Amino acid sequence: MTRQKILITGASSGLGAGMARQFAAKGRDLALCARRVDNLDELKAELLADYPNITVAVAALDVNDHEQVPKVFNELREELGGIDCVIVNAGIGKGYPLGGGKLWANKATIETNLVAALVQIEAALEIFKAANKGHLVLVSSVLGNVGVPGFKAAYSASKAGVTSLGESLRAEYPSGPIKITVLEPGYIESEMTAKANKTLLMVDNETGVKAMVEAIEKEKGRAVVPGWPWWPLVEVMKIMPPRFAKYFA
Ligand SMILES: NC(=O)c1ccc[n+]([C@@H]2O[C@H](COP(=O)([O-])OP(=O)(O)OC[C@H]3O[C@@H](n4cnc5c(N)ncnc54)[C@H](OP(=O)(O)O)[C@@H]3O)[C@@H](O)[C@H]2O)c1
Repeated sequence: MTRQKILITGASSGLGAGMARQFAAKGRDLALCARRVDNLDELKAELLADYPNITVAVAALDVNDHEQVPKVFNELREELGGIDCVIVNAGIGKGYPLGGGKLWANKATIETNLVAALVQIEAALEIFKAANKGHLVLVSSVLGNVGVPGFKAAYSASKAGVTSLGESLRAEYPSGPIKITVLEPGYIESEMTAKANKTLLMVDNETGVKAMVEAIEKEKGRAVVPGWPWWPLVEVMKIMPPRFAKYFA
């Protein structure tokens, strides 16, 4: 099934902007939101120059402003004349070792990545239930499969929560009419990963996003992206003793 009208949160950079580019190339109409509206306006101009037949709507949205989330989703739905797919992608990578005195950083990550994802899920499902159809995509992480020590402890906890919400929804809607996809990206170039240490496991934005878009198009229930080398690594993460989790920190 082709989902023509796609809403992406966190579309102002990284994986969100990358997905917008690849869906635009497929002729899809897009609703893009994030806090940095200048980035969204630039992306919109780029996409319309390359693909003049698509529609691109943009909106300022801070996903931590819980009242704004359903309001902005509905405004974008009206502008596009419907929404067939919502990609819950907005996220941050702040964090500090637990007990290190920077609760604010860990709390910000849990709030943006998990609590605000819940808010986006509620808003998307309201739209899909009214339409009796729709595809909800949650951008989690391979790190949702392991509790890592150090700076990424709250991040991995937030993504474990996102994956769990996605699994609950897959159980809630095993055969439609709403489809659920949980994406677990490995390390893909973006603004977030530009701050991290370079690793051989990192792939460029286009390659990583291509794997994400393929899994979304196939409406997979749950997908580790890119599959290689990450799916075997994820299986290892699930059974390894905690002392080895530092290698993913
Ligand atoms: N890159 C990877 O290797 C990787 C791996 C696994 C999972 N992920 C996940 O992929 C998603 C995208 O991350 P990325 O790697 O593309 O990083 P990124 O380049 O930093 O992009 C993050 C996006 O989220 C948006 N965002 C952050 N806080 C927001 C807020 N409060 N309200 C609205 N939008 C907000 C940012 O937009 P504004 O700042 O303009 O609001 C930006 O568009 C995240 O959920 C991340 O956890 C990434």
